[in-house]
Amino acid sequence: MTRPVVGILGAGKLGTTLARLTVHAGYKTLIASRKPVAALKWIIDTLAPGADTVSASDLTQAADIVILAIPLSQIPTLDPAALAGKIVLDAANYWADVDGSTNTYSSLTEGSSEVTQRLLAQSLVAKAFNHMGYHDLEIEVTRHAAEPSAMAFATDHDQIRPAVSELIVTLGFAPLDLGPLRFGLLLEPGSPLFGLAEPVPAFQAALANVYQSPFGRHVIAARGQRIQ
Ligand SMILES: NC(=O)c1ccc[n+]([C@@H]2O[C@H](COP(=O)([O-])OP(=O)(O)OC[C@H]3O[C@@H](n4cnc5c(N)ncnc54)[C@H](OP(=O)(O)O)[C@@H]3O)[C@@H](O)[C@H]2O)c1
Repeated sequence: MTRPVVGILGAGKLGTTLARLTVHAGYKTLIASRKPVAALKWIIDTLAPGADTVSASDLTQAADIVILAIPLSQIPTLDPAALAGKIVLDAANYWADVDGSTNTYSSLTEGSSEVTQRLLAQSLVAKAFNHMGYHDLEIEVTRHAAEPSAMAFATDHDQIRPAVSELIVTLGFAPLDLGPLRFGLLLEPGSPLFGLAEPVPAFQAALANVYQSPFGRHVIAARGQRIQ
């Protein structure tokens, strides 16, 4: 089977790191930001050689899997029609320095990727690649080669679970399927799972204890119960 074309929207710290990983893993990789292609190309040729710099519209047209590596507050600017039918891996997190001191996008009762899925209603959204820092991504694919680091994901679309898992495995991580998209909230900033770059057993231990953390207690307070 031919490999999917991976399109990475956002060419900053996370986007260029993921582009290096996908190129290294043999995926045709497209990358775009709001910059004109000519202005971005020399940056990509340096930071992620082998990735093709394209316009955002060419990227959304050609990619089978689109990774959102843009600020959370930019997601509402995306054209849902351009992403209709695509697998969209939402790596974006609320970050006060970038997205404003108040999170007006998501809450403890509706995680950010649930909002993204609502906005991109015709896309097959998974939350993925959000919980590990960009600096750890490249370190972890080599450090734990025998026992790869867990890359958790969550989605409401069973039909994309194999493709998401395959991408994660091929990049050098161990996929950890949290289930429906609402469970992705547990991967967001503030959670003890956020920032975690650990093999599956350690990740699962942290997951098992998540509701004992201040974050987990806030989730229960906001929802009246654990995420079901
Ligand atoms: N840094 C990490 O370790 C890390 C890890 C996991 C998840 N994340 C999440 O990933 C996202 C990106 O983080 P980052 O650290 O890579 O940020 P960054 O270094 O500031 O890069 C953001 C990129 O997005 C582009 N961009 C902004 N708005 C855009 C739009 N509407 N369409 C297309 N491209 C757009 C920017 O380029 P232009 O301004 O030129 O368009 C830039 O290339 C954030 O949501 C962050 O929370 C980051």
